[in-house]
Amino acid sequence: MIDDLWYKNGVFYCLSVGTYMDANGDGIGDFKGLLRRLDYLHGLGVTAIWLMPFQPSPGKDDGYDISDYYGVDPRYGTLGDFVEFTHGCQQRGIRVIVDLVVNHTSDAHPWFRDARSSPDSRHRDWYVWADKRPASASKGMVFPGVQKSTWTHDKEAKAWFFHRFYDFQPDLNTSNPYVQAEILKIMGFWIQLGVSGFRMDAVPFVISTKGAKVRTPVEQYNMLRSLREFLQWRQGNAIILAEANVLPETDMEYFGMDGDRMHMMFNFHVNQNLFYAMASADSRPLAKALKATRPRPASAQWGLFLRNHDELDLGRLTKAQRDVVFKNFGPDKNMQLYDRGIRRRLAPMLGGDRRRLELAYSLMCTLPGTPVIRYGDEIGMGDNLDLPERNCARTPMQWSMEPQAGFTKNERPCSPVIDKGPYGYEHINVAKQRRDPNSMLNWTERIIRMRKEVPEIGWGDFSLIATRDPAILAIRYDWRNNSVLFVHNLDEKPREASFSVGLAGDEGKHLINLLSEDHSEANNRGKHTLMLEAYGYRWYRVGGLDYLLKRSDIDGVNANHPE
Ligand code: GLC
Ligand code: CA
Repeated sequence: MIDDLWYKNGVFYCLSVGTYMDANGDGIGDFKGLLRRLDYLHGLGVTAIWLMPFQPSPGKDDGYDISDYYGVDPRYGTLGDFVEFTHGCQQRGIRVIVDLVVNHTSDAHPWFRDARSSPDSRHRDWYVWADKRPASASKGMVFPGVQKSTWTHDKEAKAWFFHRFYDFQPDLNTSNPYVQAEILKIMGFWIQLGVSGFRMDAVPFVISTKGAKVRTPVEQYNMLRSLREFLQWRQGNAIILAEANVLPETDMEYFGMDGDRMHMMFNFHVNQNLFYAMASADSRPLAKALKATRPRPASAQWGLFLRNHDELDLGRLTKAQRDVVFKNFGPDKNMQLYDRGIRRRLAPMLGGDRRRLELAYSLMCTLPGTPVIRYGDEIGMGDNLDLPERNCARTPMQWSMEPQAGFTKNERPCSPVIDKGPYGYEHINVAKQRRDPNSMLNWTERIIRMRKEVPEIGWGDFSLIATRDPAILAIRYDWRNNSVLFVHNLDEKPREASFSVGLAGDEGKHLINLLSEDHSEANNRGKHTLMLEAYGYRWYRVGGLDYLLKRSDIDGVNANHPE
């Protein structure tokens, strides 16, 4: 049953413990604080939390440099606090997925320390070594401009080691069967402590061939199947959400032809084209991206996101398209990062314009996939461009007007709270928005509620509806004898949109507006004509509100082929 698959139709929320809420007053968010905030997340209506790394770490890459896979960093609490947290989530019907960062460890990890100590050490072959500086050392950096090379000489080891990311993140030799067994053990451990799966970091690099002799890394996709098999044996409903910024033609390699590899992937392709669409008011490349990423096994799902904790990566757009996005959303050099992206938060990128924010969120909630919200975006939080690299968009959650935004009682939080300008916590905070029925927070809560009442998006099939106006994106979903339709105006000017719903007979005659009273009736040639205000959006149910009475028990029955 497709509707057993919880991840296919949920609302995910991503946060890092360290910047969410500090219960013990040391200035660093912790699991106890997060546990106390679960009622907030429950009220917001999210169905799953994606937790960024919280394991012991020197913290040089915001926790993506792990030094012990089987623990909780003491700054965030203990394993006991972690289990209280997963239990608290379970009580509220919220699932937890955690980051699985196994492309590399921290150079402080005992495995690496052992590996570098001697060529005969037990863990030597857990990493990737070379005697001489490989010719490829100045190629393939993930953080150009900051990272100088992918191979670094280690004095103690008297050898060079490979690191796809920063030089304090030595790559694990993921082709080594002992490393592979350890990865499964890590997954098994956290599953046992109550998580429902993993956001797997840097998947294309994890499965690549690595080594001094490797000229062109080759992805070993079969590794993905063994991860999935293990997970499904241990816990049938656990998932892997893959971070893989790849071209659409390789998507099925990640999902697996039989749906036997990754359950979910972030849709980076749609993400970039979505920002281009919002910057240019031209929906055509986005429509193309939606079609290119349509193929996926019935059991697989896209993670649909706007911003995440990294830069907005525009690397796959054409130069001309990228320039349009830069010009509109990140014109200053200081807003850009790694020659390919923008490091700002969503709200400042969109000029704090509520109409544009709603449009962006409405698109995220109605394009094919499961929306993944970044913490703080539900209140329109800003960024602090004085902080280096991606840290600008990782500032503490703004809870209230209390000192330090109610994040901590400490005068020195781990990352400075935004306290100046229009995005300062005195203006943007949860407490204030909670009381205002028209706030971004309450709008987001309502849109999440409505999104959950439209399972057609997660489980159904989509069709793009022709409107002959590039500024308009219209999309219809059909599932179990029901259809829904969403129309978006990307332009800063009002637009009249004219289209037919595309269903046989009288089916598409009435469109019931789900968010307001203005419904639409087709004319006698079956055409709807709508007036959409600047950045306007409409959510419609096709037919009447008796749709639940019409819903079929089986898939493959659509409005045009009733039971
Ligand atoms: C992923 C993470 C990023 C991190 C990198 C190295 O790209 O999203 O934040 O720096 O992996 O682990
Ligand atoms: Ca703390």
